[in-house]
Amino acid sequence: MTMLSHEVASAWIARWDVQQEGYVPDREERFTALIDALEAATGRPDPLVLDLGCGPGSLAGRILDRLPRATVVAVDADPLLLSLGRAVHAGRPGLTFAELDLREPGWAARLRLDRQADAAVSTTALHWLSGARLRVAYAELARVLRPRGLFLNGDNLAVDDQAPGLAALDLALRERERERRFAGGRPEGWDQWWDAIAADPDLAGLRARDETTGHHGSESELLSTHVEALREAGFAETGTLWQRGDNRLLAALLAA
Ligand SMILES: C[S@@+](CC[C@H](N)C(=O)[O-])C[C@H]1O[C@@H](n2cnc3c(N)ncnc32)[C@H](O)[C@@H]1O
Repeated sequence: MTMLSHEVASAWIARWDVQQEGYVPDREERFTALIDALEAATGRPDPLVLDLGCGPGSLAGRILDRLPRATVVAVDADPLLLSLGRAVHAGRPGLTFAELDLREPGWAARLRLDRQADAAVSTTALHWLSGARLRVAYAELARVLRPRGLFLNGDNLAVDDQAPGLAALDLALRERERERRFAGGRPEGWDQWWDAIAADPDLAGLRARDETTGHHGSESELLSTHVEALREAGFAETGTLWQRGDNRLLAALLAA
């Protein structure tokens, strides 16, 4: 089996971060706001945090940089992205990666947590799930979070069809920010990144991207879909903590 070096994996993750910023120019600012909220809400230096759809662990690593006593369980279905994360964070205390598909009921129990989680986070990932699967996933999450546990979802989530004028303004803000940020040209896109990594001989032998989790469009991109599913799952308070256009940090607190 191919042994992925720290150096090779960290170069690919750096390139991943640039690629993701092409879609989310405020990504770092959103990570910062998310970790601020995590720190404020959990009220302990050693929270147990789940990262849903973690990719190669960009957010998980940033959480541990700021909260070194935290435990982060980072979940994703993509074996290649998990291999990059594992290679870069090998031996890092407090971080484990779990290969699980959030569409499959039972994923939360399969984590075999030894205590209730204080919080769960996610960035640019859960819009991949259909509304029906999102409801099941949030209900599962509610069962492994502690009472008043926090969920933070950083994603582009649009206002619903009742506010088309505001939805158009949200998109205008996103586009203007991109134009300002990438006046010299946009970074490489999602497909280019995947094509490039597939051609890297250093990764030969690693399993290629699992097409079943490939991005086939945004299934749950409405804010209302998430808010309703969270309420149904038992989250008592929901609201946006940070926002620029439709790029937002949706927060939800579980009932007591
Ligand atoms: C755009 S990436 C974002 C990754 C990471 N959160 C970040 O901000 O860099 C979306 C991630 O969601 C993961 N994902 C999509 N569908 C999934 C599913 N059903 N179960 C687990 N992970 C999933 C993908 O594999 C991918 O890593």
